[in-house]
Formats: sequence, C-alpha cells, structure tokens
Amino acid sequence: MPEPVQKPSGNKETVVRTLLVALVVSLVCSSLVASAAVVLKPRQVANAILDMRRNILEVAGLLDPDVDVDAAFARIEPRVVDLETGAYVDDLDPETFDPADAAKDPERSVEVPADIDVARVGRRAKRALVYLVRENGEVSKIILPVSGYGLWSTMYGFLALEADGNTVADITFYAHGETPGLGDFITKPAWRVLWRGKRAFDPSGEPRLQVIKGRVSEDDPLADYHVDGVSGATLTGNGVTKMMQYWLGEHGYGPYLQSIQRGGST
Ligand SMILES: Cc1cc2nc3c(=O)[nH]c(=O)nc-3n(C[C@H](O)[C@H](O)[C@H](O)COP(=O)(O)O)c2cc1C
Repeated sequence: MPEPVQKPSGNKETVVRTLLVALVVSLVCSSLVASAAVVLKPRQVANAILDMRRNILEVAGLLDPDVDVDAAFARIEPRVVDLETGAYVDDLDPETFDPADAAKDPERSVEVPADIDVARVGRRAKRALVYLVRENGEVSKIILPVSGYGLWSTMYGFLALEADGNTVADITFYAHGETPGLGDFITKPAWRVLWRGKRAFDPSGEPRLQVIKGRVSEDDPLADYHVDGVSGATLTGNGVTKMMQYWLGEHGYGPYLQSIQRGGST
C-alpha cells in the first residue's frame, strides 16, 4: 500500500509565507532607498554648492537675505592657486576644480610633513581654490579655505583677508564636530567679530594669529595678532591657532600671500 502523502503542516506554510513577504518587502524597500539616493544625489550636490556659496558670501560680507545666493555669488571670483609657487594657475577651471578630490589623488596632492602638520591636515592638494572680491576692478578681499583638527574633529572654514593679504576681515566655520556649548564658540558671531582687524603676519612675515587662553589684555604687545579664547574650550581654540599656523605658513598660503603683499598675484 502506498504511503499517504504528508501535507506540509500549517505552521511550516506560515513560516515560509512570512519569510517570503519579508523578502519581498525588504527588496522593495531597498530598491526604493537606492533609487531615492540616486534621484536625490543631484539635489544634494546642488545644496552643498549653495551652502558653500552662502558661507563664502557671508565671510566676504556680501550675504544679503533679499538677494539670491547664486546671483550674489557672481561678485565672487574663484581662482586656482599653486600653493608651492603662490601663483595663479590658469590651466584649471575653478568652476570644476575640486581640491578635496585632488587631495585624494597622489599625483595632485602632497603629504604634509609630520613636523609641520600641526593642524593634522595629513594630505593636501597641490593647488587650492581661493575666492576674490573685487571693487571697481581692484581686489578688496581674499577668501581662503582653511581646515584643521580641534578637540574632536576637523573644523572647516574660511578666512577672509583684506586686499593687503594681512588684515583679517572675517572668519567663518561651516563644518565641525566640536561640542555644542563649548567648542562650537568658533561659529558664534560674538567671537567672529573679535577677529576683524587682526593681523595675520608680523612685520618680518611670520604668521602670528593666535587664539590665546583668556582675554586679550589692552597692554598685550601682540594684541594685533591675538584673539580671545573661551574658558573651558581652550583645546578647540588651540586647534584654530594651529590651523592658522599651518595655512598661513610656508606650506600653506604663505607663498601666495607673500606675493599679494609684494603687489602681485591679483
Ligand atoms: C564632554 C566634554 C566635551 C568637551 N568638549 C570640548 C570642546 O568641544 N572643545 C574644547 O576645547 N574643550 C572641550 N571640553 C573640555 C576639554 O576637555 C578641556 O578641559 C578644555 O578644553 C580645557 O580648557 P580650559 O583650560 O579653558 O578649561 C570638553 C569636555 C567634556 C567633558
């Protein structure tokens, strides 16, 4: 007599069906997430560019809430600089040149020597993107991207100098991971305002900008180069000092700014 065919138990059927439904749902969800990432990518890129432009306009003193950011940005002239020679490079389109991308390419970047890498930059592109503001055809501000390690994170910002390549016009930080209420003082308008009019270099050409511990006293002979630190957040301030030391130094924008101070490179 043939054995009776055993039907799968109701329990087994439910498990198979549940797994199948879970598989289909996860497939549908993952393809939805993947397509959203692809579809939204151009918008994310556009937003990142817009944000960068807004920050540059802000540090240039040209951000006007009533004016469209892209329209206002037409006043900004991006230029590519060869950091070794300090000269402008005209064989690269500033609109498409991406220093972060170049920093990942061994051909287009250099390792920062350990003994001068106080800002923990690691590698940097050989060429940098700077931004000029002109008034009546003459350069009135020079905006330099700067970055360096604070207490917890790499801080990214822009330092704006006046046309002399020495006097600070403003500073801004648009990305960092310092602690809210402590290290994030670097983004506060009340602290930024302390930078205005400070000098980047002493008469011998040494970069001197420094965030000190505590307040700059009236009788501080180096008051022109010193900015108040914030109590309880000295380590972030030290990071900003080191960032200035590196980027204003010989391996950073030093050669470019010296050329500006000699009246060239504009
Ligand atoms: C949870 C936590 C987060 C902190 N975040 C920061 C920070 O973002 N930046 C900073 O400079 N110090 C921060 N500190 C304080 C530093 O450890 C250090 O004490 C301080 O920078 C020293 O500054 P002071 O000499 O002015 O007190 C933090 C401390 C704690 C416990």
